[in-house]
Amino acid sequence: MRTSKYPIQSLILNRWSPRAMSGESLTDEELMPLFEAARWAPSSYNAQPWRFIYAKRETPHWKVLFELLSEGNQKWVSHAAVLVVILSHTLFEHNQKPSITHSFDTGAAWCNLALEGCARNLVIHGMQGFDYKKAKKVCQIPDDYQVEAMIAIGKPGDPKTLSSELQSREKPSTRKPLTELVMEGTWTNASCM
Ligand SMILES: Cc1cc2nc3c(=O)[nH]c(=O)nc-3n(C[C@H](O)[C@H](O)[C@H](O)COP(=O)(O)O)c2cc1C
Repeated sequence: MRTSKYPIQSLILNRWSPRAMSGESLTDEELMPLFEAARWAPSSYNAQPWRFIYAKRETPHWKVLFELLSEGNQKWVSHAAVLVVILSHTLFEHNQKPSITHSFDTGAAWCNLALEGCARNLVIHGMQGFDYKKAKKVCQIPDDYQVEAMIAIGKPGDPKTLSSELQSREKPSTRKPLTELVMEGTWTNASCM
């Protein structure tokens, strides 16, 4: 059970990234609300630079995205229902100039997706353990889009299906104290809380 120093929304406090999933598929009615949540994230100039390429486990697209993953991730992701590659547009559409915040904005969209999934009792697990270069190629991603991360999505499963090492990590993690993260006025190591 996580605790926060200051009271916050329980959805934020209790979201975490399990690995145990049931291997069941997801319908569009279960999947699309997650992208809908991502869609409503804020972004610089309301540019909405996020894009998502998904593959459901019962389609031929699944193998293509699954094979991008590191061996370690493949072990537990094999029970996911959907894989997603998250992209961001590095240029503003209105003037084709580079956006400074495309990754930042897309991170906000990912977080919306993760929170919506958690509220719907789905496993939502972000991943950087995959071949970014290969993803760009096999997903035919244009040059002005950057591969940001992947997501495994699924229905919760029995932790006993995981290796003993992963079973021991199948619990909500802790966080650094606020005093390490927040500074008043200037960069300082002094505690300001
Ligand atoms: C962008 C990103 C990449 C991640 N990459 C991986 C990964 O490749 N494999 C993995 O098992 N977990 C991965 N994680 C999960 C993190 O380890 C996890 O979010 C972090 O330890 C905090 O735990 P929590 O999400 O349960 O609060 C990733 C998470 C994010 C947001």
